[in-house]
Amino acid sequence: MRKKILLTGGTGFIGSHTAVELINSGFEVVIVDDLSNSRIEVLDNIEQITGKRPHFVKLDLRDFGAIQNVFQNHQIESVIHFAAKKAVGESVEKPGLYYDVNINSLLNLLKLMVDFDVSGIIFSSSCTVYGQPEVLPVTESTPFQPAESPYGNTKQICEEILRDSCNANDHLKVISLRYFNPVGAHESSLIGELPIGVPDNLVPFITQTAAGLRPELKVFGGDYDTPDGTAIRDYIHVVDLAKAHVVALDRSINDLQKSNYEFFNVGTGHGSSVLDVIKSFEKSTGEKLNYNITGRRSGDIEKIFADTSFANRELGWKAEKGLDDMMASAWEWQLQVPKLFPDI
Ligand code: NAD
Ligand code: WQD
Repeated sequence: MRKKILLTGGTGFIGSHTAVELINSGFEVVIVDDLSNSRIEVLDNIEQITGKRPHFVKLDLRDFGAIQNVFQNHQIESVIHFAAKKAVGESVEKPGLYYDVNINSLLNLLKLMVDFDVSGIIFSSSCTVYGQPEVLPVTESTPFQPAESPYGNTKQICEEILRDSCNANDHLKVISLRYFNPVGAHESSLIGELPIGVPDNLVPFITQTAAGLRPELKVFGGDYDTPDGTAIRDYIHVVDLAKAHVVALDRSINDLQKSNYEFFNVGTGHGSSVLDVIKSFEKSTGEKLNYNITGRRSGDIEKIFADTSFANRELGWKAEKGLDDMMASAWEWQLQVPKLFPDI
């Protein structure tokens, strides 16, 4: 039987793009997802892009028996664990839900990996673990700041669980990828980010505003200590991010890790302000965006961007796509959403 890669949360934004890159690289993919923040139609669209349909099981990762069945029914070689609750604001309202889903899902997977002798896991971590760093750009050794939200805390705790598990078990091989701000969509415009309800994140808010679904974009804060006064982030094209998973998986499978717990910053190394993003959107799409600079959003950090030299050197991976590509693809995707999902 061919060995398979288990993608938890594989119908979601980053998971679906990674599924495409993995299938295109010859891997067989098993997706598990409870569809709480994604749509079953994503499977059709992955199939349309790649010509191959991933295996799919709808389940909640907190359900140990359900995920155990997947390990029983498929010969899993490695795991890529995307599934999580990810809305910062909601995590403040419902911390119990965030700790329950994000931590118990990981614990269930780790237990089953031991039971079924699966050693490799790639974990979706986040630049949120760094908070507002004192020195920029952020390297992998930049210390964590106390988490700003329960969501951020779950990512810190999950990294600690993984580190402790690696200390206790030499057989385990973990790579945490600390994503910066993933945006954009696949060039086919068949998969992309599908926020349910009002988007929290900048780029889907921009594309929905340009599409007339929102009256205006509020730019949160024009008085930061940055060149144009708006906050700075390291936006990375989701396809570049997806490709980082393929190289991380190859590293894990081929036993190329330098230690059994590794962690990498996955960004472009380039900081862009909110106004840079708006300008790039207008330039690359020809659309005019209605926006207004308003007060700061509580809990926001002023600026963060990655030092990616470690990931570039060790993984042999580098983000290739620039902000204009990110914006153009996000807009093409936005235009397709009503056709692909008429009920949204
Ligand atoms: P997403 O919401 O699009 O995808 C997550 C998927 O997990 C969804 O399809 C959802 O239905 C599924 N899921 C949630 N709870 C589940 C459960 N209990 N059981 C099974 N499936 C469940 O999010 P995304 O943007 O693709 O993020 C993927 C991962 O990357 C998450 O762990 C997120 O925290 C992390 N991350 C995302 C960003 C970002 O800005 N998008 C940045 C840093 C890290
Ligand atoms: C980007 C910039 C906003 C919306 C979040 C999570 C973080 C990580 C990535 C998962 C900021 C500004 C936004 C709007 C705006 N996710 N903005 N108007 O805040 O960097 O990080 O996503 O791990 O944990 O916190 O991303 O896209 O929300 O904001 O002006 O309507 O755009 O203030 O400066 P952020 P974002």
